[in-house]
Amino acid sequence: MIKFSLLLFYVACCVSAENKTSNIERHEARKFPESMLFGAATSSYQIEGGWNEDGKSESIWDDITHMEPCIVLGCHNGDVAADSYHLYKRDVEMIRELGLDVYRFSLSWTRILPTGFPDRINEKGVEYYNNIINELLKYNIQPMITLFHWDLPRKLESLGGWSNSLIVDWFTDYSRIAFELFGDRVKYWITINEPREVCYSGYDYRYNMSGYPDYVCAKMILLAHAKTFHMYDKEYRPTQNGTIGITLSTPFYEPVSEEDAEAAEDVIQFEWGIYANPIFSKSGDFPQSVKEKIAVKSLSQGFPRSRLPAFTPEEIELVKGSSDFLGINHYTTSLVYRNESVNGYYASPSYYDDIGAMIYQDNSWEGSAISSLKVVPWGFYKLLTKIREDYDNPPIYITENGFPTQGGLEDDDRVAYYRKYLDSMLDVIEEGSDIKGYIAWSLMDNFEWNVGYTVKFGLFEVDFESPERTRTPRKAAYVYKEIVRTHTLDFNYEPDMNVAIGIDEGH
Ligand code: NOJ
Repeated sequence: MIKFSLLLFYVACCVSAENKTSNIERHEARKFPESMLFGAATSSYQIEGGWNEDGKSESIWDDITHMEPCIVLGCHNGDVAADSYHLYKRDVEMIRELGLDVYRFSLSWTRILPTGFPDRINEKGVEYYNNIINELLKYNIQPMITLFHWDLPRKLESLGGWSNSLIVDWFTDYSRIAFELFGDRVKYWITINEPREVCYSGYDYRYNMSGYPDYVCAKMILLAHAKTFHMYDKEYRPTQNGTIGITLSTPFYEPVSEEDAEAAEDVIQFEWGIYANPIFSKSGDFPQSVKEKIAVKSLSQGFPRSRLPAFTPEEIELVKGSSDFLGINHYTTSLVYRNESVNGYYASPSYYDDIGAMIYQDNSWEGSAISSLKVVPWGFYKLLTKIREDYDNPPIYITENGFPTQGGLEDDDRVAYYRKYLDSMLDVIEEGSDIKGYIAWSLMDNFEWNVGYTVKFGLFEVDFESPERTRTPRKAAYVYKEIVRTHTLDFNYEPDMNVAIGIDEGH
């Protein structure tokens, strides 16, 4: 999700950073490892529609998008979205046209459990996901399911959502149902998508609260994830043989100068180390720097204890190592410098006040349809290198990477973005990073949260004006298909878009 709070920086900031160039400029064709899986991703609220059909109850996004006055750009909502609730066969056909190995999609909790609890299972919802899974498997495409991609049952939100400690059980109960229903056929599971956006953006965007509920939420997310992981590991893995991880939003943060290295590290630890460290580091627990900074500020603000709730020693052990892989959602990079005057710039207490650094992007960097999403492929290289070094080279799936435009089928800027980022990814693979899969965001245009349908991330265009929600491949779809088919990144490949994209044999 776009970080509204950062937008201010882009306008306000005056420090101009050195314009970095890609770490290695190469344009010869490069091979991906044979074992590399390629895929595309979507999420339930963003594509399904059918918001109140067949027994589904409301999620928080049904609630948010129906608010009056509206708060989403253009007053858009996901009531129909790309209508994938009815068009899933066409979706699978598109995946076959691309020749993908994996399709990452999410389950709508309220379509399966309308009360939010497992007291009642909605058969129609189950049937929908069974249809998708079976259709994928028919063509040898592996489903990768995200259990939670932000559409929390509204009923659970009214009980406190991710700030009620009972949600650890609510989430585990829901996950159990999903493993029971689909785990015989689904071998890739992601518990939670982008906890940072759920916690920080969720509380800041919706409730204008930051610096307390977001930290409670972080702890609950980690416990819910870990309990679900252990449940799968003990009760389902022996018979289902799947793999289960978590997906984090991981922008890279580059210091403006050497003196700012600590500030950039602070931002990284607050933004995603807070989720990665407890799971992937040797010591576990929240990052030391995050614990110290929040504790010191909290005491000076008159709180009797840190606003960051501590883990017990047992919880630290429960969370540590609770992932088979790390899912990386990566789009862009920002610059960071230390500026004590950040005190007073933000409300206190707040998340950004706790961080104590300024974050911005270089205006000379190539942009996109979202102002905060600039094209910085060297940041992807640095991010993946850092993860390899800090967390002892964990298995990684790139679960999202992509580029927003304002529309059009000739998306050369998106093609260039994918090529540059894949080039950086090949660099880290050569240096030993264990990257098992690459999943593009997104298979098709969809509801982009607070900016609705105003920006387009799809390999396939969706015509939101037509009742059929017609899908048409963009140039990037043709190029990606060739990358997947040949396992080769060739900067010189030019597709012929007059030829139908078609389905290759074996798909
Ligand atoms: C991350 C989120 O997981 C996804 O839902 C969103 O559409 C993309 N980023 C693009 O902002």
